Amino acid sequence: MKRYRIGVVGGDGIGPEVTREAMKVLEAVEAAGLAGFDVKEFPYGADHYLETGETLPDEALEEFRALDSVFMGAFGDPRVPDMRHAADILLGTRFRLDLYVNHRPVKLLHERLCPLKGVSALDFTVFRENTEGLYAGMGGNFKLGTPDEIATQEDINTRKGVERIIRHAFEFARKRGLERVCMSDKSNALRYGHDLWTRVFAEVGAEYPDIEKDHLYVDALVMQLVRKPHMFQVIVTCNMFGDIITDLGAALQGGLGLAASANLHPGEVAMFEPVHGSAPKYTGKDVANPLGAILAAQMMLAELGETSAAKVVEDAVRESIRTRKCTRDVGGSLGTAATGDFVVDYVRNC
Ligand code: NAD
Ligand code: IPM
Ligand code: MN
Repeated sequence: MKRYRIGVVGGDGIGPEVTREAMKVLEAVEAAGLAGFDVKEFPYGADHYLETGETLPDEALEEFRALDSVFMGAFGDPRVPDMRHAADILLGTRFRLDLYVNHRPVKLLHERLCPLKGVSALDFTVFRENTEGLYAGMGGNFKLGTPDEIATQEDINTRKGVERIIRHAFEFARKRGLERVCMSDKSNALRYGHDLWTRVFAEVGAEYPDIEKDHLYVDALVMQLVRKPHMFQVIVTCNMFGDIITDLGAALQGGLGLAASANLHPGEVAMFEPVHGSAPKYTGKDVANPLGAILAAQMMLAELGETSAAKVVEDAVRESIRTRKCTRDVGGSLGTAATGDFVVDYVRNC
């Protein structure tokens, strides 16, 4: 049985609650003899920031580099309205580890979960560029707080950055035997930054003659995601659009409580997290759905090459939903911990 070193940052709000359930599931994977884990918890989050002024120290980032994987819960606390700590911990990890792929699957695990009429199957993947775009943090204020104030936020699109995420999407499609990749931008309005996306998509796409190339402006894309979501297999897009599209994707698959993501730089340490935030109104109430976090752990197992363990965990989540042994948001009546227990029992008895 292979062992893996995992770094865990539960974060804020419901982050630690759902992370606890995901870690319980890894313990069950170990008890089932599938893979072993040495978990190190890190205290970073709003509490730690407010107590110490520290967000994510350089040493922690160096430690992350030496691990097999990092797992994060969620960040966001009303006491830190500017999200300063999350910018360093979450975006800092994505940027400084150069995790340029934000891989967000949209998979319908049960037909009752899709809010659209007549949709019984959905399985597509969004690749969100994860290290630049409007998230690069370039910009500033001039005449701050005066009636003449100017605020700028630069949209950074580099050829290298655009090319590597587009190539990753095509490689994924080829490996999975998929037929189509859709790139979404707003190049009709953003004539510099997104024209680069259009040109690079054509250039890289030419290397994949076996794969159909589609393009949709992002406004048309969200419209089609609601009208005909089954037409999509792989979507590749910039950081900001990817953020927005994947909350819509989460809704299509049953809600934010079910959506998982992987932040990757192939060949290097990766970071896994649910798509949802810290949901302050649910904190400490044992109502948050842990399945998104558990599916993020499932993505981690798959990425580590532990395919049997990844399959068992996915089966367990499907069974939790099918039998309604899940939280209220997805049609059950269990709490966070009891939902985790159900998945744990399934995995232990596999
Ligand atoms: P959110 O994802 O925290 O919650 C939005 C709504 O989605 C909730 O009110 C709830 O109805 C539902 N939801 C989310 N997670 C759920 C779960 N596990 N189970 C059941 N229902 C769930 O988004 P928000 O309210 O916009 O943001 C709250 C805070 O989280 C903000 O500070 C925001 O910046 C932050 N945030 C952090 C991350 C992250 O750390 N990855 C992601 C998104 C938002
Ligand atoms: C996400 C979140 C983050 C993002 C926030 C918390 C900065 O919404 O992971 O989807 O925008 O990337
Ligand atoms: Mn988001």
